[in-house]
Amino acid sequence: MDLFFEHYKITEYYDNNSDAVLLEGDTLDILKKLPSNTYKLIVSSPPYNIGKIYEEEVSLEKYLEWQESIICELFRICHMNGSIVWQVGNYVDNGEIFPLDIYFYPIFKKLEFKLRNRIIWHFGHGLHASKRFSGRYEVLLWFTKSNEYTFNLDSVRVPSKYPGKRNYKGNNIGKPSGNPLGKNPSDFWEIITDEWNSGIIDIPNVKSNHPEKTQHPCSFPIELIERCVLALTNENDLVLDPFGGVGSSLIAALKQKRRGVSIDKERIYLDITRERISKLENGSLKIRKIGTPIFEPTGREKVSQIPVEWLKKEEIAL
Ligand SMILES: C[S@@+](CC[C@H](N)C(=O)[O-])C[C@H]1O[C@@H](n2cnc3c(N)ncnc32)[C@H](O)[C@@H]1O
Repeated sequence: MDLFFEHYKITEYYDNNSDAVLLEGDTLDILKKLPSNTYKLIVSSPPYNIGKIYEEEVSLEKYLEWQESIICELFRICHMNGSIVWQVGNYVDNGEIFPLDIYFYPIFKKLEFKLRNRIIWHFGHGLHASKRFSGRYEVLLWFTKSNEYTFNLDSVRVPSKYPGKRNYKGNNIGKPSGNPLGKNPSDFWEIITDEWNSGIIDIPNVKSNHPEKTQHPCSFPIELIERCVLALTNENDLVLDPFGGVGSSLIAALKQKRRGVSIDKERIYLDITRERISKLENGSLKIRKIGTPIFEPTGREKVSQIPVEWLKKEEIAL
């Protein structure tokens, strides 16, 4: 593996020279002590207030007030040419859904953050709803602090579907119309959360079979954050995840030769983060490679066949 740092310098206190800083405690308290105008990318999936083991459920109003105080601090510490990517899903109350990006937008806007994309992160699996359509996407709100911001489109281009297309009019008539580096990945990202989506679901306990699976109930696929890191920062820039969990954002940053800070209130998640960084260093961390195509079932896999109990008599005879 091509690593920038042979051994990452990891500290559990703020240090300008560290590759990875792990901070344990309440995020708001910690953010207040971090330097202004510093982080090129702040990326996180905040708790959604839906009663996961690491959160205490409160009213939506109270939750948003708390989040607003955090986002104010994030505005202060964000680099002048930096970005914030806030990854959210739905808050659910009594079967009614409240898409959190709708509630977060005015909070960011009030601080004069500028929305650049509302990215749909689509995944092909999840819980099957019975009283509404099953939810299959979450949102990444990408804001910048100012109008001057880092955006490296070429580093995240994806293969074009029709690279052979040519201009049929204008000055460039007859010349290829696309970009040899590929096309813009658009604001619709299909990045799998786990191997459930790969169709290999006859392996028992598939969730724990996923290469990136850790003890955390909802960690980021590293690939999702790598795309943000590559597009929105340059080598050696600082990336911060204020609700870092098991350090997926930090891993994405280190993997792409950036430095990072990860904050979490749970000691166990910081310990797992450390362990994952060591595995990244020695090349044993299992990560889905960025850009790996999503598996398309061929129809021959056992799981893509109609169960025999559902077949009609004449179909079984065939
Ligand atoms: C949605 S998870 C983030 C998971 C992360 N994206 C990853 O890939 O592992 C939210 C995290 O926020 C942490 N958290 C919740 N409230 C917090 C607080 N007040 N201060 C610091 N961390 C907090 C939780 O322990 C949890 O790990």
